[in-house]
Amino acid sequence: MKIFLDTADIREIREAHSWGILDGVTTNPSLVAKEGKDFLDVVREICALVQGPVSAEVVSTTTDEMIREGKDIMRRVGAPNVVIKIPMIREGLRAIRALSSEGIRVNTTLIFTAPQALLAAKAGASFVSPFIGRLDDISHLGMDIVRDIRAIFDNYDFKCEILAASIRNPLHVVDAARLGADIATMPFSVLEAIIKHPLTDIGLQRFLKDWEKLPQQMRKG
Ligand code: E4P
Repeated sequence: MKIFLDTADIREIREAHSWGILDGVTTNPSLVAKEGKDFLDVVREICALVQGPVSAEVVSTTTDEMIREGKDIMRRVGAPNVVIKIPMIREGLRAIRALSSEGIRVNTTLIFTAPQALLAAKAGASFVSPFIGRLDDISHLGMDIVRDIRAIFDNYDFKCEILAASIRNPLHVVDAARLGADIATMPFSVLEAIIKHPLTDIGLQRFLKDWEKLPQQMRKG
């Protein structure tokens, strides 16, 4: 499963990238607004750092405007790894069809049901983003739709990738991987939480302490 960061914070992206495990980045208007920087500059900076797909979201809601905005982002960022994020609304489906027909990769965002994902894939989306955490928040099992989307895409051999989004904790990542999501996008805090385990830290301290017991001249082999 590929690991994406869900952030527009370049320091977090740089740090995760240095670990050698980062496959891509997703942003959204809320995350970009939090950074208080020029939107296209932020996307350019991320694209220069990360080789994999980088999602940048449109903020218009009519088909023509979404198409225009999507093409504008592609042209002005000028990086081959930009993916245009389009919301799962009626106007969005038309925009997905138009953009994907011109070879622009689209990530359909705000997916909350399996049939929404089916329509997005039929319209030509390269990625669908089911929002797991936000479904859990309202007492719906978010992972159930990942399972359903996986089964549907496999039944009909859709090439569209399942990008599990709104991931809130390491268990979400495990479930997404078990269910066959192609990608999980997560906040930096979740990525850090995955690394940490108290037994790893205790074990390392013990190994290092025991090593001290070996006389200096015997440590080099
Ligand atoms: C996905 O691409 C979205 O940016 C994101 O995962 C939303 O997550 P949230 O529900 O934590 O805001």
